[in-house]
Amino acid sequence: MSLFAFYLPRIHYSRLVIKSAIVPVAGHGTRLLPATKSQPKEMLPVARKPIVQYVAEELVQNGIEQILFVTGRNKASIENHFDFDPELTNTLTAANKHDLLNEIGFVDLPAQFFYTRQKMQKGLGDALACGERFAGEEAFVVALGDSILGLHASSRVVSRMTELFLEKRASCVLAVEEVPPTETRHYGVIRPEDNGGDHLRVVDLVEKPDPRDAPSNLAIAGRYVFSPLIFDMLRRVKPDKRGEIQVTDAIRLLCEEGKRVLAIKLTPEERRYDIGNFPSYFETFVEFALADPAYGAEFRLVLERLLAKK
Ligand code: G1P
Repeated sequence: MSLFAFYLPRIHYSRLVIKSAIVPVAGHGTRLLPATKSQPKEMLPVARKPIVQYVAEELVQNGIEQILFVTGRNKASIENHFDFDPELTNTLTAANKHDLLNEIGFVDLPAQFFYTRQKMQKGLGDALACGERFAGEEAFVVALGDSILGLHASSRVVSRMTELFLEKRASCVLAVEEVPPTETRHYGVIRPEDNGGDHLRVVDLVEKPDPRDAPSNLAIAGRYVFSPLIFDMLRRVKPDKRGEIQVTDAIRLLCEEGKRVLAIKLTPEERRYDIGNFPSYFETFVEFALADPAYGAEFRLVLERLLAKK
C-alpha cells in the first residue's frame, strides 16, 4: 500500500449516489413459530404481499439498484419469489388474466438481486459481514428484512439518509424512532448529542438496554447507511453473551473512533411495522388489509361485525 492510500478515505463520496443494499434475512424467526417452521418469516404475507417484497420495493423507490439478501437454510423461497416464472406467466397470458399478470410484475423491479448464505446464526453483525465483498469500497444501505417502513412501504427515509450521509461525509446514518421507555430492551438505543434540526449526532448506543440504563428512547428502526469502514469495526467486535456479533457494537466503535454517526427520526407516516412477533404481525396485517384499495372497505365491515360480537 502506498503512503497516500493510508490517508485516502475508504469511500468514494464523490460518486454521490448509493445504489447497493444488503438485506439480512437469515434469522430463524423463532418468535413466529409454528408459522416459520419451514418458511422464512420474511415471506409471511402482510395483506397481499410477502414482507420482503415490501422491503425490496421500498429500496428500489429510494434509488437502490442492487440488493444482496443474506439468507440461510430454509430461505430458498425468497429467491424463488423474485424470480421470473415462465410457466405461471404463460398460463396467465393464455387465460387473459392481465390483472394477475400485473400482480407478478414486481419480478421486473429495476434492481439486480444477489444471494449469499450466512453459515451459522451468529448475529446481525455476522450476517452483515457476509456482504463485505458485495459492498466493496462503496457506501451501502442495510434494510432489515422483517421491517416495513410506512403503510405499504411508502417511506422515503432511505433517500433522506443517503443524502445526509453524502452531504455530511458520515460513516453511518441510522433511522430511529421513539419507543415507549419500557420497550427499550427490544432495540438498539442511541445516545443523541443534541435534539435540534432534522438529524441527530449519535455519541453512543447500546443494544437492548434495560429501561433504567437506556440512553434515550430513540430506537434503531431497521435502516442503516454505512461506509465500508463498518466491516473493520465488525471484525473488532466481541461476541455478546449469546455468542452473537451485534451491529450496534460495531457502530459504537465508530463513535469511539470519533467517526460521524448520525440519525434521522422516522416521521409518523413512515413508522416501522415490525414482523418479529405475533402481536405486531397481526396488527400490521389488519392495518394493511384495511387500507387495501379493493377489499379494505369490505374487510372493515367484517371487523366491525366481529368486534360487536359478545
Ligand atoms: C435488530 C437490531 C436492533 C434494532 C432492531 C430493530 O434487533 O439488533 O439494534 O433496533 O433490529 O430494527 P432484532 O430485532 O434483530 O433483535
